[in-house]
Amino acid sequence: MVDGITNRNPLVADYSEWRARDYFQTYYSEVVLPDEQAVLAYQIDVLRAARARFGRGLEYGCGPTLHRAIAASRYAFRIDMADWLADNLAEARTWLCADDDAPEWKRFTRYVLACEGHTRPNHRKVLQREALTRKVVRGLYVSDARLRQPLGPSREEFYDLIITGFCIDAISADPRVFRRCLRNVTSMLQPGGTFIIHALHQCKAYKCGDRMFPGSNLTIDTMRECMLENGFANSSIDVQVIPCPDNRQYGYSGILTASARKATKTRRG
Ligand SMILES: C[S@@+](CC[C@H](N)C(=O)[O-])C[C@H]1O[C@@H](n2cnc3c(N)ncnc32)[C@H](O)[C@@H]1O
Repeated sequence: MVDGITNRNPLVADYSEWRARDYFQTYYSEVVLPDEQAVLAYQIDVLRAARARFGRGLEYGCGPTLHRAIAASRYAFRIDMADWLADNLAEARTWLCADDDAPEWKRFTRYVLACEGHTRPNHRKVLQREALTRKVVRGLYVSDARLRQPLGPSREEFYDLIITGFCIDAISADPRVFRRCLRNVTSMLQPGGTFIIHALHQCKAYKCGDRMFPGSNLTIDTMRECMLENGFANSSIDVQVIPCPDNRQYGYSGILTASARKATKTRRG
């Protein structure tokens, strides 16, 4: 059942007012913002530490973006992408089907390669990584995180890697919705699977174009608690706050980034 709680805060927009192009323009059209640099570097560190390639990855709540998939593509044999808005997925599909000279994500691809130790990656390396991403990304799915099984029963405990950036905390200003959506999305992760999440720290509303969209006002403690509630192994949970005071103009001045492994099921004796 879809969660009955809606955004009652009249100051934040509903996702029916979302414009994929506004979002790209606000956050991704000019530079790799310092908070993005930090979370991409974090994502790559976690993926590299796994040492073996993941079998089935999911990027949940991708919006119109490709940079997280570009960063993950070297570390997974297959990546699916999901988002609530078909328009966002259409933007992603346009890039996935484009020629290798599509310019939108090149500076992010260069940054990802730099994080992996290629200090000045040449054009060929950039094209190779983007080609790999186009090969590895398979399904693009419309999905609602408020559903108990956001991609249906067949995807319960299906993925061994889930990455989600600034989505689950952006669905509603009500922190209860964040908790339920986190439960729903992480139910798609296999025992032993790796979860990486980025969220806005203590943000009630974030900017996209000339509109404000909801934030769940998360703290580091809430994030850790929610991970424990959802069966992540305590010793594997890492939650960090990355300050980004220059982003106050967008409605937040810190980022939460976290990762954990789902506990494996133990057989009762
Ligand atoms: C701030 S954007 C994040 C996009 C991208 N992951 C990034 O890091 O830039 C929030 C995303 O959450 C998606 N979203 C909003 N409500 C959702 C829901 N109920 N289920 C799944 N995704 C949702 C929006 O469509 C939007 O793409």
